[in-house]
Amino acid sequence: MSHITTILEENRTFPPPAGVRGNIASLDEYHALCARFQTEPEATWRELAEAQLRWDQPFTRVLNRERAPFFRWFEDGRLNLSVNCLDRHVEDGLGERTAIIWEGEAGEVRHISYSQLLADVCRAANALKRLGIEAGDRVIIYMPMIPEAAVAMLACSRIGAIHSVVFGAFSPQALRDRIEDTGARLVITADGGARRGGIHALKPNVDTALQQGCQTVEHVLTVRHADNPIDTDPARDIDWHTALAAESDKCEPLMVESEHPLFILYTSGSTGKPKGILHTTAGYLLWAKLTMQWSFDFQPARDIFWCTADVGWITGHTYSVYGPLACGGTTVMYEGVPTYPDAGRLWKICADHRITLFYTAPTAIRALIKAGDQWPNRHDLSSLRLLGTVGEPINPEAWIWYHTVIGKERCPIVDTWWQTETGGHMIAPLPFATPTKPGSATLPLPGIDAAVVDEHGDEVTEGGGLLVLRQPFPSMLRGIWGDDQRYIDTYWHKFDGKYYFAGDGARRDADGYFWIMGRVDDVLNVSGHRLGTMEIESALVSHPAVAEAAVVGRPDEIKGEAICAFVVLKQDADAQLADTLRQHVSQEIGAIAKPDDIRFADSLPKTRSGKIMRRLLRDIAAGREITSDTSTLEDQQVVAQLQQNRA
Ligand code: PRX
Repeated sequence: MSHITTILEENRTFPPPAGVRGNIASLDEYHALCARFQTEPEATWRELAEAQLRWDQPFTRVLNRERAPFFRWFEDGRLNLSVNCLDRHVEDGLGERTAIIWEGEAGEVRHISYSQLLADVCRAANALKRLGIEAGDRVIIYMPMIPEAAVAMLACSRIGAIHSVVFGAFSPQALRDRIEDTGARLVITADGGARRGGIHALKPNVDTALQQGCQTVEHVLTVRHADNPIDTDPARDIDWHTALAAESDKCEPLMVESEHPLFILYTSGSTGKPKGILHTTAGYLLWAKLTMQWSFDFQPARDIFWCTADVGWITGHTYSVYGPLACGGTTVMYEGVPTYPDAGRLWKICADHRITLFYTAPTAIRALIKAGDQWPNRHDLSSLRLLGTVGEPINPEAWIWYHTVIGKERCPIVDTWWQTETGGHMIAPLPFATPTKPGSATLPLPGIDAAVVDEHGDEVTEGGGLLVLRQPFPSMLRGIWGDDQRYIDTYWHKFDGKYYFAGDGARRDADGYFWIMGRVDDVLNVSGHRLGTMEIESALVSHPAVAEAAVVGRPDEIKGEAICAFVVLKQDADAQLADTLRQHVSQEIGAIAKPDDIRFADSLPKTRSGKIMRRLLRDIAAGREITSDTSTLEDQQVVAQLQQNRA
């Protein structure tokens, strides 16, 4: 990728801002903490878990490795997540503090205090119980970015139900797959959400999904939000507001074991359908809270924290909802796109709510750079004290712009590398201790044993290789829902069960800094969203006109990667077919998976043994000189044809 090439050449270093004492104050403190984790890992985790979380029953055992790689943390302890995010703060006298500031796309604003949020969560939890939802039951949440989404998540945790949030822009088909894989009994949704001045329908998508199967779903609970007319089936549909109004604002929390499942979140892999990543209660919550303090230097009494991610993604789970609330601070939720009504929207929100910590994706930064400096310059950004980024490698140009134009050279840039599977940050600078380099996520957080290794698993101390995590950590995934073997095969097989293999390539420089190079498997990163090439290929071949399809990524200035599909048809292409296929993929998965380019051909380039030559396709997609050896190619003509046929 073009920006990765630039990363390799980047070697500027920026010292942490002077005069600020962060939660971890210096590199010496960082190294001392890392050393403690190395010499006495269990005692260190024990101390942190005891200090950070409120336990109903304290744990005695820190880590159980007996069934590795199915690790268990703090397993004999009991606690409740919603108590840790709500009740404890109210008991500590912070009931009036704002927990959530919500801004709608049309500009409406709601401030929800901790007391209010607790009351709403209790009402929702009681409503769930009345619908027969019990501990361990799965609940699908398919909602826009509104406070009720957080209320629904916390209500599940209060009664031990397992939530699975499905991103609101996913199609009915994708929703159905997730409902069926989880076996959910309840879907919580909204009539619709705001999108670019219009309405994005949600409940109608649920209806479509349920028409096609989903036998396990007994009820659908719908928040009225967008004035979108909806059909209701009295046997199945329940109005959220009516249901909550009938309930008490007190609900006894269910104390669960540390390893009680908290949520399932689907993410793409290189094979098959998206996999349900399973996270459990205590370990996940501990790390959400610690990373808020370490990577973001979150100080709940003074900070206003805004993570722009939707709750449909892991970033939204950990850093829009659970992390900030576990700390007792204020989190901002915005329902809308960054460029509506204009490219100044994010900066206006920063100014209006006096945001101090801001966290977004490089793709948004790149789009806003393109819109021009006049947009941020129109707003007072003086409240900002830290800027974070996540989801994909940030190119140095975007990093420098973020640092100068948005951060006015005062704010540390915190580039955080992590994954749905890791629950929270793994590699990130400590903002007031670690010198930063544009394009590097810098160093592993304390307690995280990240390394770059070669194909044999031998450590590469300087140079490129594969990124692995060598020790278990509390917030790691506990498995793939319903498929233990896939968990082992995907993450542990590569290095014989010794290391967790992240699927990313990385480089370490002479200072030990990590530079993430992107996925080494067939997973694309489009605007910071993970998509499996195979998923898109399956969607394409499910169209009657398509005989065969291969999907690869190509570099894209804004999105990081764009989707390029090579398609062999059963019949001749008509003028509309490329658009029809794009639409088809959108219906099967969601708009984010729509191919940017579609190239038709009579066949796909394959080796004599029948393997699709993906590297060759990537070169063709990027318009690069072909570097692959094409001598084994069955049909030499096909390359020229693919190079020309751009739809
Ligand atoms: O390739 C890495 C990239 O995003 C992948 C994880 O995607 P997902 O599970 O959807 O989670 C995204 C938000 C945590 C990783 O395997 N990635 C994530 N953060 C970075 C990154 N690549 C480079 N730099 C990052 N900071």
